[in-house]
Amino acid sequence: MKQLTVELEKSYNIFIENGILYSCGKYIKEVCRGNRIMIISDSNVFPIYGERVVKSLEEEGFVVAVHIFPAGEENKQLSAVSKMMCALADACFSRTDMVAALGGGVCGDMAGFAAAMYMRGIDFVQLSTSLLSDIDSSVGGKTGCDLPNGKNLVGAFHQPKLVLIDPKTLDTLDKRYYNDGMAEAIKHGIIKSKALFESLPLLSNEELIYKSIDIKRAVVEKDEKESGERKLLNFGHTLGHAIEKYYDFKKYSHGEAVGLGMLLITKAAEENGLCEIGLYEQIEAALAEFDLPITCDAAIGDLIPLCLNDKKRRSDKIDLVIASEIGKSFVHSISCDELEDFLRGADEWMN
Ligand SMILES: NC(=O)c1ccc[n+]([C@@H]2O[C@H](COP(=O)([O-])OP(=O)(O)OC[C@H]3O[C@@H](n4cnc5c(N)ncnc54)[C@H](O)[C@@H]3O)[C@@H](O)[C@H]2O)c1
Ligand SMILES: [Zn+2]
Repeated sequence: MKQLTVELEKSYNIFIENGILYSCGKYIKEVCRGNRIMIISDSNVFPIYGERVVKSLEEEGFVVAVHIFPAGEENKQLSAVSKMMCALADACFSRTDMVAALGGGVCGDMAGFAAAMYMRGIDFVQLSTSLLSDIDSSVGGKTGCDLPNGKNLVGAFHQPKLVLIDPKTLDTLDKRYYNDGMAEAIKHGIIKSKALFESLPLLSNEELIYKSIDIKRAVVEKDEKESGERKLLNFGHTLGHAIEKYYDFKKYSHGEAVGLGMLLITKAAEENGLCEIGLYEQIEAALAEFDLPITCDAAIGDLIPLCLNDKKRRSDKIDLVIASEIGKSFVHSISCDELEDFLRGADEWMN
């Protein structure tokens, strides 16, 4: 069993253990003020893990309700969140009752958002089942959903009361989603920890999750609402989001696009003298090790307008996260007009 505590105004624990879902009720009992829990899960995850979670909660005396939504990023919509809140109202949930998000990042983001809004906020816990959620989205309190206009455009900061991570659940996760999560672990290594970056291929899932989520924990503690340090977590994301959008979210998954975004920004950083020469090759090798794509045929000129639409933009400035070497990163703010020039060095790579 591994344990971490996220020290914020309202601190919470992260427990990582194979099989922890079988005893989730015991942990949830410690943080729940009422006696009712609604498990919110998706149509893939609930059939595999739902029964054991329901059983464990009932053993602790909870009255359990269940709401299942159709799996997939395409369903990460306000209409789905609205149905979750209606389910809470139908079941007469009060302020002291709780939501348990059982699933990956899509489930955690939406169930957390529903919990943030229902009755102006009720408590929720994360029962994480995907690698991406284990090492990234389950911690930090960013909740929300997509709009037709773009990804994650609505949301709220709402920290969970508890995060339970069961690495055993990765046995049933599709390999492509596993590698997708791995891209974010590679990112954590690049921005903050050379030791993590170098040991990635050698670690057990439990250790990988522990070390990677610990980096996210430390960043979130320093900067809960993303005014400074937390921006570093966006390494590879401005261009990654542009790549996802350019292909209409069909060609590359989020982690795959972020991997390409990390490569592209690092190529540009090398050309602009902002990072050590050879960093690009190191990142490329790490991505290739987990079958993540390392080439992309979009043109820089097509990606720039999409970058400028990104929600990370502040008026006429754009914050680029640059890694100077493995384990070290910083925010480099440039004006939107300078972006094209900055990325020009990477153009050759794209073609
Ligand atoms: N809140 C944050 O800080 C944050 C950070 C990064 C990403 N995100 C969000 O996370 C989402 C992506 O997360 P994701 O990759 O976990 O997506 P996801 O929740 O859609 O899970 C991916 C797929 O795997 C299935 N699945 C999950 N766990 C499984 C398991 N153990 N066995 C079998 N199937 C399983 C799901 O049903 C889904 O089909 C994006 O919407 C992204 O915006 C949020
Ligand atoms: Zn990401």
